[in-house]
Amino acid sequence: MSERQLPRWSEIRPLLRARPFELNPTSRRLQKALTIKELRAIARRRVPRAAFDYTDGAAEAEISIRRARALFQSLELQPSILHDVSSVDTTTTSLGRSSALPFAFAPTGFTRLMHHEGECAVARVAERIGIPYALSTMGTTSIEDVTAVAPSARKWFQLYVWRDRSAGEELMTRAKAAGFEALMLTVDVPVAGARLRDVRNGFSIPPTLTVRTVADIAAHPAWWMNLLTTKPLTFASLEAWDRTIAELIDALFDPTMTIADLEWVRSYWDGPLIIKGIQTVADARRMAEARVDAIVLSNHGGRQLDRAPVPLRLLPEVVDTVGDRIEVWMDTGIMTGADIVAAIALGAKTALVGRAYLYGLMAGGEAGVTRAAEILAREIRRTMQLLGVRSIADLSREHVRLPRSPFA
Ligand SMILES: Cc1cc2nc3c(=O)[nH]c(=O)nc-3n(C[C@H](O)[C@H](O)[C@H](O)COP(=O)(O)O)c2cc1C
Repeated sequence: MSERQLPRWSEIRPLLRARPFELNPTSRRLQKALTIKELRAIARRRVPRAAFDYTDGAAEAEISIRRARALFQSLELQPSILHDVSSVDTTTTSLGRSSALPFAFAPTGFTRLMHHEGECAVARVAERIGIPYALSTMGTTSIEDVTAVAPSARKWFQLYVWRDRSAGEELMTRAKAAGFEALMLTVDVPVAGARLRDVRNGFSIPPTLTVRTVADIAAHPAWWMNLLTTKPLTFASLEAWDRTIAELIDALFDPTMTIADLEWVRSYWDGPLIIKGIQTVADARRMAEARVDAIVLSNHGGRQLDRAPVPLRLLPEVVDTVGDRIEVWMDTGIMTGADIVAAIALGAKTALVGRAYLYGLMAGGEAGVTRAAEILAREIRRTMQLLGVRSIADLSREHVRLPRSPFA
């Protein structure tokens, strides 16, 4: 039996180390989040239900996003031991230009709904940490304003093709003039996906003041105060709209668009062209034949077709088929830095993250986006070290074992 003694103050005192108290409540809140999942939990408390659900939700029964996340969680990482990993280099390239980390901020519509700092906050963080940012056609900040706040960020403009072609032509011309590097054409929205949470919440743009929303003001006063005291929440590239997003998409978007329209795009955009929303090997091949610069394997974060192919599962075969001709990128379901490492190891040139940074934005504006990027960057670095890998180029398929498809 061990001998016991009474605790002595001289021995206890050195064990008591008070953490410096963080005065700023936002920083205090954000520091507590160690994972994207924890940022999501903070986000859920900070913003009205309809705004959180618009961001967090997906289409129909939300099977696509659940499967995408489940595949990331069920894959196995294969480490190699006894390598000097004292320093790790996370830099990589996309479209021939450097990026400090192997991910970019995906285009997301209506970003000022999540937090009034919106697209500007996201673009500033991208500039500061040295990764690209894609501004959405459905953005709530104009092309020119994004360039003004983040002049040296790598910026891509995400285009949706509308029935009114002249609107798209104008946006491409403005993006070019504002120094955007590449055009990202999203091709998985011929019509709106059925976002049932939005329907149930009666979500519209801009938010309408119903009895329910008035009650919500009491629960989220800061969000409402910011909404009502900053620039009106409208689409930067669109006339005012007062119905639901699905109605907006169906009224504006051109469901007749075909691959022949790439020529129309090219006549207005002579820079790099990225096609976002590729979901089969056959379509990847068609895009390589059309000589685009990059494709994004994506099911739009599960927000369009439900039960769509899981992009990560598609990745190796697409890379084998077209990887020597075009860059293959991917998104959907990324919640950790290890997810990004796995995607790169399976052949993606870069990954896009959507909700991961939006949870940060909702949790604390620009500081929250910084926190999300910090979490992902740390996880990427640590996963690489534990895998025994010093650089992005050293990641290979040997580092990932995908489970057999439960849907095969
Ligand atoms: C709130 C929200 C809005 C989005 N808006 C757009 C958009 O305007 N254009 C687009 O191409 N993709 C849009 N996306 C899809 C993202 O670009 C990306 O494909 C998706 O978020 C990736 O999945 P993840 O959220 O699991 O990372 C949106 C996604 C979210 C969550």
